[in-house]
Amino acid sequence: MVSDEAMPGGTRARIRCDILGQGAFTEMQGGLFRPWLGPAYRATVEQVGGWMVQAGMTWRIDAAGNVVGRYEGTQDNAPSLLIGSHLDSVHDGGRYDGVLGVMLGIEVVAHFHALDVRFPFALEVIGFGDEEGSRFPVSMLTSQAVAGRLTEIDPTLRDRAGQSVAQAMSAFGLDAARIADAARKPGETLGYLEAHIEQGPVLEAEGRALGVVSGIVAQKRFEITIEGIAGHAGTMAMALRHDALVAAAEAILAIERIGRGGAEDLVATVGRMAVLPGATNVVSGRVVMSLDVRAALAADRDEAAQAIGAELAAIAARRGVTIGLAEMQALAASPCDPVVTRALSNAVARVTGAPARHLASGAGHDAMVMADLAPTAMLFLRCRGGVSHNPAEAVLDADVDIALAAMVAFVETFAPVCPASTPWKNLPEGTPA
Ligand code: GLV
Ligand code: MN
Ligand code: MN
Repeated sequence: MVSDEAMPGGTRARIRCDILGQGAFTEMQGGLFRPWLGPAYRATVEQVGGWMVQAGMTWRIDAAGNVVGRYEGTQDNAPSLLIGSHLDSVHDGGRYDGVLGVMLGIEVVAHFHALDVRFPFALEVIGFGDEEGSRFPVSMLTSQAVAGRLTEIDPTLRDRAGQSVAQAMSAFGLDAARIADAARKPGETLGYLEAHIEQGPVLEAEGRALGVVSGIVAQKRFEITIEGIAGHAGTMAMALRHDALVAAAEAILAIERIGRGGAEDLVATVGRMAVLPGATNVVSGRVVMSLDVRAALAADRDEAAQAIGAELAAIAARRGVTIGLAEMQALAASPCDPVVTRALSNAVARVTGAPARHLASGAGHDAMVMADLAPTAMLFLRCRGGVSHNPAEAVLDADVDIALAAMVAFVETFAPVCPASTPWKNLPEGTPA
């Protein structure tokens, strides 16, 4: 393991993200790709577990493959404040999306451990395995498991190699039938704090290091399947073709038009496409592509999805192909909790000397799922050019340092902001939790 114990926390967190962007921690030559449960993910979990121990925690891998570190409170087994984000990445992604939030969680604990400070609650740090959905066609499987929303896994879900989730979990040493064991019991988790790069340009444009998230937009994922007729590229007359790829091209333009024409925050994206049979001299017979639709209001998202469905039906009729639109996943919009968000805003104001900037997140985060389990708050860090899902992602050490200071300040004031009904507050003096 790399020894970096003497560094300031923010710098160390950033450097650790860089370490996790290469070598055994990626499945991609010359770039970062770390899908859930792959060999790079395994190496990452082990490395992160080692850093958790260095910060004074015990660690384990939960039933969904998440890495969880724990720093006990003044009494063992007290409920915890959970801090985290995700360890998986998109294909050819940046080094800070997700990972930085996990590294910052470790630094928060390292800070208190170095001072020998404990709270009436435990601190736990979680690195989620599957936020991006970059291996299977749905996302956030692992936070859904922790939030108790995933009791069984759809057996039809396959990765690009044709492996099911159960097979991938088994290869990792996990049992898909037991994924519900990752669920936390009510009362065990007092709150969830996630730090994440903004992945957008607002903070940089306004010259701010930090922002506080007000809420996360609603999203849906679909799979579009276009069935045409494969044919010889030299002999099939243009007028007689039922070309799936040309239908897909028309569909993508329609999706862009609908995405531009709706609510201001509506976005619609086709990011992945498989063309079959995929040969120079063959008219394409089949296209399978992804569709991602998001908006602050679920109604705007759903109206756009309906309009896309109608447009696809019209294209299918015109071109003599069939087009299927299968909904793979729906995530509700998720406002952050007002009480803990106010506490986080106060912490940000204290360390930056200015009122916190609040902003909505167009990107999905594990926090939107964890909101089912516990009150959530999210801290955004400025990133260079607002660029993310791109190897050019970059952060400033000074921003990461101030983010750590804000998180430390938040934890220090977390006890008073917890409602009096939180379990550990009701324990008579001296009772083991
Ligand atoms: C994850 O980054 C997402 O917003 O899909
Ligand atoms: Mn991402
Ligand atoms: Mn992310």
